[in-house]
Amino acid sequence: MDFYLDTADLEEIKRLNKLGIVDGVTTNPSIIAKTNRDFKETIIEICSIVNGPVSAEVTGQTVEDMLKEARDIAEWAPNVVVKIPMTEEGLEVVNILSGEGIKTNVTLVFSVAQGLMAAKAGATYVSPFVGRVDDIGEDGIELIQNLRTVLKNYNFDTKIITASVRSIGHLEMAAKAGADIATIPGSLLPKLWKHPLTDIGIEKFLSDWEKVAK
Ligand code: G3P
Repeated sequence: MDFYLDTADLEEIKRLNKLGIVDGVTTNPSIIAKTNRDFKETIIEICSIVNGPVSAEVTGQTVEDMLKEARDIAEWAPNVVVKIPMTEEGLEVVNILSGEGIKTNVTLVFSVAQGLMAAKAGATYVSPFVGRVDDIGEDGIELIQNLRTVLKNYNFDTKIITASVRSIGHLEMAAKAGADIATIPGSLLPKLWKHPLTDIGIEKFLSDWEKVAK
């Protein structure tokens, strides 16, 4: 399973990228807004730090606006991926961009049908939002399981990015369900390697060692 960082915080990306576990980055307009920095500059810098796909989202609503933005974003770096919302206009844009060889990530996906539509339109990636599905009382992980089955049934190449990941449980269950990728907030990632028993174990080893150390 690939791990992407769901952040545009450059210091966080630089720090976590040193661990060799970061395969890409995803952003969205809310994440970019938090940085108070220029969108294009931020994406170009992230693309230069991370050796993997970096998603940057369009904000236009019409086919014309999204296409214009997408073609521009696609020029920013060789590893940039254009994020497109799951709408009728978005699907048309994905279809056109896929014909032009521009990589896309269809975002704000909340059902198997939406995921299937993204794959049929030619999306490189599809991003089901597990946390937000849970928020409305449905089961986000079940969505990943079902979408995995459907994309496999028809041999689509579209990769599933598990998004809106809020817990270690989400990540573990998405991995079990066969999601290709999980995109994880920088604040959650350290919880994947931290364990209270590891900390207690280190403390015990050190205190035993200090008892006899000269
Ligand atoms: O990956 C999508 C993410 O940025 C949204 O997460 O927690 O706001 O639903 P959340």
